Amino acid sequence: MANYHIRKYQNSDYEIVRNIYSDGVKELSPTMFLHVLKLPRTIVFLMGVFLTLLMSLQSLLWAPLAVVVLLVLARVIVDAIWTQYVQCCFQEDLLDIQKSYLQSEHSCFWVAEVKGEVVGIVGAQPIRNAEQDDRLELKRMVVKKGHRGKGIAKALCGTMMNFAQRQGYKAIVLETTQLQHAGQKLYERLGFKRMHEIPFSSPVGEITCVNTIFYRYDMPTIDKGKEKVPTAKNVSGIGFVF
Ligand SMILES: CC(C)(COP(=O)(O)OP(=O)(O)OC[C@H]1O[C@@H](n2cnc3c(N)ncnc32)[C@H](O)[C@@H]1OP(=O)(O)O)[C@@H](O)C(=O)NCCC(=O)NCCS
Repeated sequence: MANYHIRKYQNSDYEIVRNIYSDGVKELSPTMFLHVLKLPRTIVFLMGVFLTLLMSLQSLLWAPLAVVVLLVLARVIVDAIWTQYVQCCFQEDLLDIQKSYLQSEHSCFWVAEVKGEVVGIVGAQPIRNAEQDDRLELKRMVVKKGHRGKGIAKALCGTMMNFAQRQGYKAIVLETTQLQHAGQKLYERLGFKRMHEIPFSSPVGEITCVNTIFYRYDMPTIDKGKEKVPTAKNVSGIGFVF
C-alpha cells in the first residue's frame, strides 16, 4: 500500500501546488497535438500543402520541409494554448488558494503527501447558481508523474466525497476533456456518471475539435442507503486530515 497521507492545503504549499497543476495541464499538449494530427481535415490540409508544393516547385525537398515546418508550428501553438490556460487559472482560483478554497467552510483544497513531499492536489468549490446551489465542483485534480497508479487520486476524491457528504451537498460535479482518459477512468471507477459532452466553446475548440465532458456523482443519502460513499478511508485505508 502506498505510503501517502492527505491533508488540507497550507500556504507553504502554494508554489508546489501551482507547479503540480501547471505540469498536469501541460501534459495535455502532446495529447492534443496528436488528436489534432489525426483529424481528417488536418490530414487533408497537410496532403494539400504537400501536393501543391510538390507540383508547383517540383522539389522533393521543399514540399516535405513545408509540412515539417507546419507541424512544428502547430506544436508550438498547442503548447501556447495550454500555457495560456494555466496562466488564466493562476489568475483565478489558484491566485490565492487560501482565499479561494479555505476561507469558507463550504469549500476546501487538499494535498497528498509522500514522505513530506506534496505529490497530488484537488480542490472543491460550491457551484454558485440561483436555482441549485447544492452541488460541489471538483477542481484541479492532478497527481505527479511517478506517484500515479497508487490510489492517490482515488483517496483525494474519497476525501472530497466525505467532505461533500458532511457538508450536505447533493452532488459532486466536474468538467474534464475528452483527452484526459486516466481522469475519465478514475471518475467512472468511483461511480461518477457521464452527463453530457460539448465542444470547447472557443475558436480553439473549433480548430482542435476537443470536447468538454461533464460528470456528476449523486451523494447517497446516509440514513436510507446501504451504499457507502467511497471515502479516503475505504478507498485507501490511510489516515487523512480534513
Ligand atoms: C488522472 C490522475 C489524477 C489519476 O491519478 P492516480 O493517482 O494515478 O489515480 P489512482 O491510482 O488513484 O487510480 C484510480 C483509478 O483511476 C483509473 N486510472 C488511473 N490512471 C489510469 C490510467 N492511466 N489508465 C486507465 N485508468 C486509470 C483506474 O480505474 C484506477 O482505479 P483502479 O486502479 O482501482 O482500477 C493522474 O493520471 C493525473 O494527474 N493526470 C493528469 C491530470 C489529469 O488529467 N487530471 C484529471 C483532470 S479532471
